[in-house]
Amino acid sequence: MSADHSILVTGATGLLGRAVLARLLAADSHLRAFVLVRDVGRWHRTARELGNQSRVLPVHGDLCADGLGMEPDARAAICRDVTAIVHLAADTTFSSPVDRARAVNTLGTQRVLEIADDCETPVRVAHVSTAFVAGRRTGVIAEDLHSANMGWVNAYEQSKYEAERLVMDQAASWVILRSSTVVCDDVSGQVTQTNAVHRALGLYRHGLVAMMPGVVGSTVDAVTTAFVADGIARLALRDDAAGNVVHLCAGDGALPLVELLDITYERWATNPAWRKRGIVRPVITDLMTYSLFERTIAEVGDASLKRIAGALSHFVPQLALPKRFDTTNAEALLGCGAPPVRDFWIPMLDHLHARGAASPIARVA
Ligand SMILES: NC(=O)c1ccc[n+]([C@@H]2O[C@H](COP(=O)([O-])OP(=O)(O)OC[C@H]3O[C@@H](n4cnc5c(N)ncnc54)[C@H](OP(=O)(O)O)[C@@H]3O)[C@@H](O)[C@H]2O)c1
Repeated sequence: MSADHSILVTGATGLLGRAVLARLLAADSHLRAFVLVRDVGRWHRTARELGNQSRVLPVHGDLCADGLGMEPDARAAICRDVTAIVHLAADTTFSSPVDRARAVNTLGTQRVLEIADDCETPVRVAHVSTAFVAGRRTGVIAEDLHSANMGWVNAYEQSKYEAERLVMDQAASWVILRSSTVVCDDVSGQVTQTNAVHRALGLYRHGLVAMMPGVVGSTVDAVTTAFVADGIARLALRDDAAGNVVHLCAGDGALPLVELLDITYERWATNPAWRKRGIVRPVITDLMTYSLFERTIAEVGDASLKRIAGALSHFVPQLALPKRFDTTNAEALLGCGAPPVRDFWIPMLDHLHARGAASPIARVA
């Protein structure tokens, strides 16, 4: 495209948002971006990391405020200029109560769609979602809108599912880009932002995970920031991606849970000091037994065990709900699949260990 054109990006201070924005700007020298930010100071710190971002205009706002809380002039400029919205902002906390998760993820998306509707030209909405909108569903998970009948493991999944429905119902043109869990920056294994998976690994390393839900066939699907950000940046604005749901997931490259726990254990056991501590692998059990285990901790466990079990309860049940994310659309549109989890899991473990995470008990909440 030769003429200047503008987009609105939400969530640009986040892990994926800043990586996506950097790629979009690098790919198109005529692209200008408004970024919706809650804290302009935080945006300037992000902008410094990204380098010279003279084509980016921060707009103060909040997904939870009417009209996204933007000043009228900023809103008018966005409605006049933008041809696409890349919506990444979200409350990504698995433990958020449903009201909070909905306020940001569902109602916030509704407000983004209202801005899209007010724009002078029809706007493409590229909505970044999670593969785990599949919730309690098992088996092959298709790249389409699921029905709501199986329920979800946490309010985050539910609120993101509800947001997808709004996008499909209301946007003039949309693409839904569902990411799997991001565990490291790229296949080098570097970790910029720790999340629930890293905290769970920290607990396992400290021998604090006696039991873990799972079944035969449970796999762990995980991806790198680089793969997901590339996928979003390449597909968000592309005409032939419109109307598609795309799984930015490992798919067939997911790792069986048992194998993942084994290679993790074996990697740590190469350190004689760790081996000497005699930490054992967690017992893999069905969901019902795991719930009993959780209940026992809730009744008789000490405060830190309760916090650990409480934090894990918001996402580990997914391990007993085996899924394989279909990646047919992703591979057709991108011409490639994600790197298999095997390629970056051990480098990621080594990186986590080298940077010496703080006490997992302190950080688990
Ligand atoms: N990372 C993953 O593993 C993963 C996996 C699947 C799907 N996703 C999806 O990918 C998207 C980006 O995730 P991420 O990991 O990059 O998230 P993140 O690092 O937690 O960043 C969240 C972003 O959303 C913004 N935000 C949160 N609440 C907001 C509000 N009320 N108003 C305006 N902005 C708000 C944050 O801004 P502040 O700087 O103001 O906090 C930040 O820029 C999300 O939609 C998420 O659901 C992520």
